[in-house]
Amino acid sequence: MATTGYRVLAPQDLGKDLLARQFALDVLNGLQESPKRIPSRWFYDDEGSRIFQEICDLPEYYLTRAETEILERYAPAMMRRASGDALDVVDLGAGDGRKTGIVLQAALAHARDVQYVPIDISEGAMAGLVAQMGTQFPQLHISGIVGDYADALHYFSRGKTRPTLALFLGSNIGNFDYPAARLFLRDMWEGLNHGDLLLVGFDRKKDISRLLAAYADPKGVTARFDLNVLARINRELGGEFDLKRFDYHCVYNPVLGAIEAYLVSRERQSVRVAALGRAFEFEAWEPIHLEYSFKYNPTDVHHLARATGYEVVSEFTDSHEHFIDSLWRVRKHG
Ligand code: AVI
Repeated sequence: MATTGYRVLAPQDLGKDLLARQFALDVLNGLQESPKRIPSRWFYDDEGSRIFQEICDLPEYYLTRAETEILERYAPAMMRRASGDALDVVDLGAGDGRKTGIVLQAALAHARDVQYVPIDISEGAMAGLVAQMGTQFPQLHISGIVGDYADALHYFSRGKTRPTLALFLGSNIGNFDYPAARLFLRDMWEGLNHGDLLLVGFDRKKDISRLLAAYADPKGVTARFDLNVLARINRELGGEFDLKRFDYHCVYNPVLGAIEAYLVSRERQSVRVAALGRAFEFEAWEPIHLEYSFKYNPTDVHHLARATGYEVVSEFTDSHEHFIDSLWRVRKHG
């Protein structure tokens, strides 16, 4: 009989309160820096997550389709690399669960006893995901963890003995700069055992016009996605941002190998944020940096794996060679 549920690591009210304070702090600090910045992790409130799903369906945003193609084609081959009859599939950032579903289907065909361990900071998102996967895969054990990645991984890894495949898909690694990516991967490594597997999705360096088209779509969905951060400040912190007075702008920085996304103030203005008890001054055409989306060559991927304690087992790409899912094995000895 399959078991289905999730555990909340911190009481949600406390978690929510901490999160609200962290948001206020990041906005307060970030808007006093030069250049101004707001970390992209704050994109994903309910509205932001909904707009992100719209982005994934845009014809210009090839990333989701490319990775789906890879998983549909190669998930069974990936599973053959996983050992034994039992397997824990840990999922960091399942989104709407479509891609994870492909991996779980293959896992269930390969191993007799599969446990799915989604990790998400939002209890609402977790409840939805657990219900959806439970219906789609009645034979699956589901044991979700509501918490931030670091706490949840720590909780998951205590006393863990079963072989694990961890998923970090969707080029989410691209939203970290290199030091942060290394730290994150090293945290994962700490929580996993020798021989466990990690599947990481990377968007490849490619023709710059294609990259720019994906992040500056003609319908303006990505602009709405970024502007939602200002709307979120208005909703949650009593901000008075007039969204029409900011333009979305993105560039590709070939030295960093990253798309950089900005909101630019169209005029000199002062914007009050009630919960922070102060106003922020903007010069005309002053930017707020919001997001990096780092792109990788296969060599960059190999360096990153080696630098953080993994060996690359296999690499899978789509028919256009836009995206890589790289399968890594944890090395702790030997
Ligand atoms: C979630 N992440 C991988 C997306 C990306 O491509 O960097 C977020 C995004 N930003 C603009 N469009 C999509």
